[in-house]
Amino acid sequence: MARVTPDQIRQMKVRGERIPMLTAYDYPTASILDSAGVPLLLVGDTLGMVIQGNDSTLPVTVDDIIYHTRAVLRGAKHALVIADMPFGSFQVSHEETLRNAARLMKESGAQAVKLEGGVRVAASVRAMVDAGIPVMGHVGLTPQSVNVFGGFKVQGKTEASARALLADVAALEQAGVFAIVLELVPAELSRLITERTSVPTIGIGAGPYCDGEVQVIHDVMGLFPDFTPRHTKRYADLGAAMRAGVEQYISEVRDRSFPTEAQSAPIDARIVERLRRESADQPADGSEGGEG
Ligand code: KIV
Repeated sequence: MARVTPDQIRQMKVRGERIPMLTAYDYPTASILDSAGVPLLLVGDTLGMVIQGNDSTLPVTVDDIIYHTRAVLRGAKHALVIADMPFGSFQVSHEETLRNAARLMKESGAQAVKLEGGVRVAASVRAMVDAGIPVMGHVGLTPQSVNVFGGFKVQGKTEASARALLADVAALEQAGVFAIVLELVPAELSRLITERTSVPTIGIGAGPYCDGEVQVIHDVMGLFPDFTPRHTKRYADLGAAMRAGVEQYISEVRDRSFPTEAQSAPIDARIVERLRRESADQPADGSEGGEG
């Protein structure tokens, strides 16, 4: 099956087809998600939290994203894989942004990049799109600006901030993004944005009216022990399953019920017998024996 393209994602909105998206950071997870049929996979800078254990996404580097995207691409043969642009990789200048986006595409093999921001990044988005790089936007709560927002808070609740959000989306649409993540935006505002823009909107904590939904795989699979955001839903508790499995493993290694001969390779018993006899003939201190 051919790989999903940005244009196919745009067409999904036109047809009113919902767009599921998940994050992935490694080969086995990407293989499972891809074979389940997720059309969009994001190697998000959330890896700074759910993989690296930081308390924000800020420490993530371009090299981190390249490393994880390569692994994801080995597992995902069908999904469109998007590499997130981490904090610091698109704030310095258009040139620097373009250089980092090109590095992400060249060195990781991703089919698109995502970056946070609206009006303030629109010119950089235009430059990337003009250079042939498909770009996904991300507005609302943009976690890289957590220190400005003063926490992971819903955005667009006042009229002024709702207007600013609409302006951000319009600027990204003009700049040529193929989809936009709306994070922590009130449901009715997401509905208005989704109705007004021709670009597919992908919500997270943005209610039911977006064209698609994105979630962090560790949140929906119960793999992140530190906290569960309100906007998520657990579809499985892999963390609990893993813990139970590990406890059983520890117990079986301790009581010698694992491993058994079934997990090992046979050898001709005569060889072992010969070796046993030879070592029995040799003194324990390794000397040649005799009286001196
Ligand atoms: O980095 C990420 O995983 C994201 C999603 C939460 C949209 O930006």
